[in-house]
Amino acid sequence: MEKNLLSIADLSEKDILGILELAKKVKADKTKYSEALKGKCIGLIFQKPSNRTRVSFEIGMIQLGGYAIYLGPSEIEMGVREPVKDVACVLARYLDGMVARTFKHEDLKELARHATVPVINGLSDLAHPCQALTDIFTIKEKAGKFKGVKLAYVGDGNNVLNSLMCAAAKVGLDMKVATPKGYEPAKKVVELAKGFSVKSGSKLQLSDSAEEAVKGADVVYTDVWVSMGQEGQKAKRMEAFKGFQINDEIMNTAKKGCVVMHCLPARRGEEITDSVIDSKASVVYDQAENRLHVQKAILLKLLG
Ligand code: CP
Ligand code: NVA
Repeated sequence: MEKNLLSIADLSEKDILGILELAKKVKADKTKYSEALKGKCIGLIFQKPSNRTRVSFEIGMIQLGGYAIYLGPSEIEMGVREPVKDVACVLARYLDGMVARTFKHEDLKELARHATVPVINGLSDLAHPCQALTDIFTIKEKAGKFKGVKLAYVGDGNNVLNSLMCAAAKVGLDMKVATPKGYEPAKKVVELAKGFSVKSGSKLQLSDSAEEAVKGADVVYTDVWVSMGQEGQKAKRMEAFKGFQINDEIMNTAKKGCVVMHCLPARRGEEITDSVIDSKASVVYDQAENRLHVQKAILLKLLG
């Protein structure tokens, strides 16, 4: 594995399957790795709020025998109070690893460039690789396989989609993506994911039709229409995403037994209705729990 995990492209298919395999072992026996990272410490450098990512990394480190320090938006003000480079060089002298949640993906790259310890992306404007690894882990848990499983993503062409698309293509999941015109995922990421899907033999289709994506799907996935940092575009986005809501009507066109996923936090009543997120099909809390197991596996691989 490479030193850092900034995006799914940093991982080979073998790396991904190795993480998923280890996560399964970690999940099966919480006590097995309780001393694996004894005495090690990571810093959580977060420029945006977080529930799942922060708590699962903190608890994950404790369960592995180490500890974590949370450095929230007002603490070190990376790039404001001092340059990213200085933050990287100084924190690398104290810590064994860093998880960073940044606005700009470039800041994350700069941090990783200068840090002599592993840097993990805890979400940037471009990617959310830890989320995507958990998502495919959860799909494997529910469907038992990747080959032939149809994943539909409906919503914004954002960080969560970018990583999910790459991870799905790497492991051979078939994926249909539906985004409104003007909100497609970045061309560069689509090209990358298409390359991965050619290699794995999976299908990746993009359109602006939510109906087309969901029809016959085994897994339906959505995320918020307004990501952190985009609050000023809310009114425009609400208008553009009309018709891209995951509700009972569209779920009726998915395959029987289809599961519903969401990285959370959800804006209930916007991208997904209460009736769907609270339905039997929804696996959002299993998915959230799996963040812990998968991140412990990532920590073991990078810091162990
Ligand atoms: N899904 C996710 O990353 O959640 P948080 O923003 O709460 O960490
Ligand atoms: N796309 C969302 C994901 C939050 C986990 C955001 O960036 O705010």
